[in-house]
Amino acid sequence: MRKPIIAGNWKMNNTVAEGVVLTQEISNNFYRDYTEFVDVIICPPAVDLKAVKGVLEFDKRDIYVGAQNCYFEPSGAYTGEISVKMISDAGCDFCIVGHSERREIFGETNAMINDKVRALVEYQGKKMTPILCVGESLAVRESGDYIDYVTKQVEAALAGIDIFDADQLVIAYEPIWAIGTGRTATPEQAQEVCAAIRSCLANILGGAMAEKIRVLYGGSMNEGNVDSLLEQPDIDGGLIGGASLKASSFVNLVKAAVECQK
Ligand code: PGA
Repeated sequence: MRKPIIAGNWKMNNTVAEGVVLTQEISNNFYRDYTEFVDVIICPPAVDLKAVKGVLEFDKRDIYVGAQNCYFEPSGAYTGEISVKMISDAGCDFCIVGHSERREIFGETNAMINDKVRALVEYQGKKMTPILCVGESLAVRESGDYIDYVTKQVEAALAGIDIFDADQLVIAYEPIWAIGTGRTATPEQAQEVCAAIRSCLANILGGAMAEKIRVLYGGSMNEGNVDSLLEQPDIDGGLIGGASLKASSFVNLVKAAVECQK
């Protein structure tokens, strides 16, 4: 039985003060026993990480903090970049890698994403888990080749990386045409690709490992569609953008994941 994950990706929203308020609102509406059933992750902008972590620690909430990006080199002349050690030190246990906005707007290639996944998985400090995002554009979806496209993204991102433990990796399937558009993939569409990702993981890492790795769906997930998505056998939670910016919506998504475990 895979423990579901509800992860909020704030993207470039919330100053430190706003992030603290949102985290406090989430925390105030959060029952401690939720995290027995679901792993909850908040991914704020890098400058908010420490403050968000501070609120969660103060309130003794077992909610994880994740970064939205990192660079693969350990240190040096990389203006504007943040290392794995830095995000770990700021309190992160997770890091989103290869989000379609990073691929499309900032030109991240499969090779760079592979380097980032490696830097996170091989980090020698405490465990840092990549949330590897993959997903096709509308053009690729309409061409019919989307399974091939997405599984190639997974293979490229994991090339040459040893994964020993299923907790070292989370995958998020996020069809680009569903991100921030209000147009969610149907549960069947999302399930089809998440199942294909799991078979691809089985080919690379073996069936036993693939059965344990969490595969999330992302793209306009909200309170109205969460149940039907989480019901799917290969969808183990969500990476949530817009609906993670409002405490009540985010907590309701966490509750939905708790309910589907009970
Ligand atoms: P959305 O974003 O929920 O606003 O569609 C999801 C994401 O990009 O991670």
